[in-house]
Order: sequence, then structure tokens, then C-alpha cells
Amino acid sequence: MTSVRVRRKKRVAYTVPKLNDFSEQTIRAAFATVRHDLDEAIEALKNELDTLDEPDAKKAPSKADAKWKEFRDAWKARKTGVLTQIREQWLRVVPPQTKALVGSEFNRLQVKVDQAADQMEAYARDSVIWESGVRDFAEALKGLPEWKARKRIDLGLDITLPGNRRPLGAEHPIIKTMNEMVSVFRNLGYSIEEGPEIETDYYNFESLNFPPNHPARDTQDTLFIAGQESKPLRDRLLLRTHTSPVQIRTMEKMKPPVRVVCPGKVHRNDAPDATHSPIFHQIEGLAVDTNITFCDLKGTLDHAMKAFFGSSVKTRFYPSFFPFTEPSADVQISCIFCGGKGYRDGGRCPQCKASGWIELLGCGMVDPNVYGFVDYDPKKFSGFAFGMGVERIAILKYGVDDIQLFFQGDVRFLEQFG
Ligand code: PHE
Repeated sequence: MTSVRVRRKKRVAYTVPKLNDFSEQTIRAAFATVRHDLDEAIEALKNELDTLDEPDAKKAPSKADAKWKEFRDAWKARKTGVLTQIREQWLRVVPPQTKALVGSEFNRLQVKVDQAADQMEAYARDSVIWESGVRDFAEALKGLPEWKARKRIDLGLDITLPGNRRPLGAEHPIIKTMNEMVSVFRNLGYSIEEGPEIETDYYNFESLNFPPNHPARDTQDTLFIAGQESKPLRDRLLLRTHTSPVQIRTMEKMKPPVRVVCPGKVHRNDAPDATHSPIFHQIEGLAVDTNITFCDLKGTLDHAMKAFFGSSVKTRFYPSFFPFTEPSADVQISCIFCGGKGYRDGGRCPQCKASGWIELLGCGMVDPNVYGFVDYDPKKFSGFAFGMGVERIAILKYGVDDIQLFFQGDVRFLEQFG
């Protein structure tokens, strides 16, 4: 083959050599080489545009723009472009009998060059959008018809696709229940206090009148932090088993009158099953003032239960024991499933085990011993406290049959509370 070397000048510019002869073979080979190099130049430019490293979006358009213009000028510039060179050095000088061949080859090349220049302009614009992100959506859409399919896919801009569903988030049922309970007490004038989840033995037990080695400690299924043995007992850390330590922290901070609710997460060494979870939530309440009686406690909790489960709900106070309250009670509400009858749908009510009552929370009058730990005068002040499990309330309110559902993060469950 007669060689026609098209030498590369800079990146895409060519110097078209003189043809050694005007045989058909030489001419066809010369054009084939130019077309081949055009293809290579296109690929090279695409690669450059694809990897255009321009973090500043504002500068990127000019860089990409400069690149495709450089390409266009190399091939099409009126004085020095490849097309002009071919016209001047080949087409002009060929003998008449081969002019038609050179002319038709030239026309073919010119179409290809024009197409390539347009394509590269679109590709450059496309890559600018790609690089800088779609900043102006309307502007971006203008280029849509020219974009390569690949780019369209990358940009996810097939406007014929159905829209993306963006589900609204929903408050977690536990947080929702907690907020609702808290707001019942806020409306009664209570303020909110919080305390740490990692507590000392002192706040979780001792100051709440659980003496060391007292059997009541065993009822709390405590998770202890490892490596605490060298510390005095009262300083040893554990995961709080109830929100009652916040009572102590609050009374240390403020003098009566005190009316606080303390929502929070608590931990117990319980294996997870449908009714147990090692993590759950409680809301603690504490009211200390002069002349607070058990009647205030009953009235307050009766109101709260009615606010929460409906005004037809009855409450019952059942003797119980907590080291930090005396007397202590468990509060039961009339069964919200059978209306307190104990049976429904012609059979025993499974929720209240046919008793008509559901046990819901613990409460009592603050034991005078506790006041000794926080420097309150037990002769002057009295108060009540209560603590309730948020999961327990949510389970009843929403008819959930497995406490684990609250912790598994399954959106099919959670989105029902939206
Ligand atoms: N802290 C107790 C528990 O978790 C509940 C409680 C709180 C009882 C306040 C009485 C007063 O078991």
C-alpha cells in the first residue's frame, strides 16, 4: 500500500502530507487513514471529557467547551483545518480524471467531520452537566435529545419513567406513645427531666432505698458494666434498670415544689421474647410538695389513664412493693378489650385473662427514707411517684402482639403509625 502518513500535531491537529501519486488506491488509502484518525480523535476527546477533573462546577463548562472547540478547529478551521488542508493540497491539485473520486471522498469526510463536531459539542455539554451535577434542571433538559443513551442512564433522566416514591417518615410508635404520655402530664403542669442511661449503683439502687444485698435488687435483672469491682459499690456503673434514678437527680437539683416526668430508655437482663426485651422505655413521674396525699396520686393517674385510653376506663390501685415508695401500689385499668367484663366474643378475654383488669404501672408515696438521700425534710414535704412502661402502653393501645416488632425496624410495621 502506498503510504500516506498523517502525522499528528499536538493532540488532534493533522498536517496533511502531499500525496505521492494520484492512483485510486493511494487516494482511497489516504482518506481511509484520515477517517480512522478522526475516529481516534473522537474517542480521545470523549475520554478526556469523561475524566474531566474539575471540581469547581462553575469552571467546568469553559474547560469542556474549550476542548470540543479545539477539536472542531483542528478539523474545520477555515485556514488550517484538516478539511481545508485536503481541499488545498489534494482536491486542488489532482488531475481531472481523479478529481471526481477525491471530491466524493472529500464530501464523505466532510459529512463525517461535521457530524463529529456536533456530536462532540453535545458530548461536552453533556459531560459538563454530568460533572457539575444537574444544577439547573430546565437547562439540563434542553440537551436531552443530544445526550448519549449511556449518559441519560447515568443521569437517571428518563423522564418517561414513573416518579420515585418518597415515603414520608413516621414517628416511631414508642416515641409517639412517649410523647403523647408526656404531653398529658405537661398539660397538668409537669416539666420534663432526663438522666443518663449508664448509672451508678448509688442512683439506680442505694439512694432509692435498695440497701446492698437487699433481695429487691434481684427483681431488677441488672446489666452491670464490666471491670467495676475495684470501685466502691455505690460508684460502680450499670445500665439503669428504671427511670427512678432521675427522681433522685431531680431532687438533688431542685427544691419542692417538684412536678416532673422523666421519659427514657432502660435496660434489663431479659431474654427477648414476645413480652420481654432487654431494652425498653419508661416514663417516671414525681410530684413533691407540701400536703401531697395518696388522693393526689390516685386522681392524677386516673386522669392520665382516661386521657390515654378513653374516659370510660376505670383505675384500680392494688397493694404492691417498691423500696422507694410507701405505701406502694400497682395500677390496673379496666380491660380496654372487653370493657372490664372479663369475657368477649362469647369466651374468656385473653388480654385480661378474664379478670377484667390489666396491670399497667407501679406507683406509691415517696418513702421518707428517700428524702434523707436528697436533703428534703420529710416532715415538711410529701410526694408521690409512678413509673410506667411505654412499650406496655403502646402494645395495649395499638393491639401489638409482639414487643420485638418495636425494635426490628421493619417499615411495614412502622409505617402504620404514620
Ligand atoms: N421504678 C419502678 C420499676 O421500674 C416503677 C416505679 C416507679 C414504682 C415509681 C413506683 C414509683 O419497677
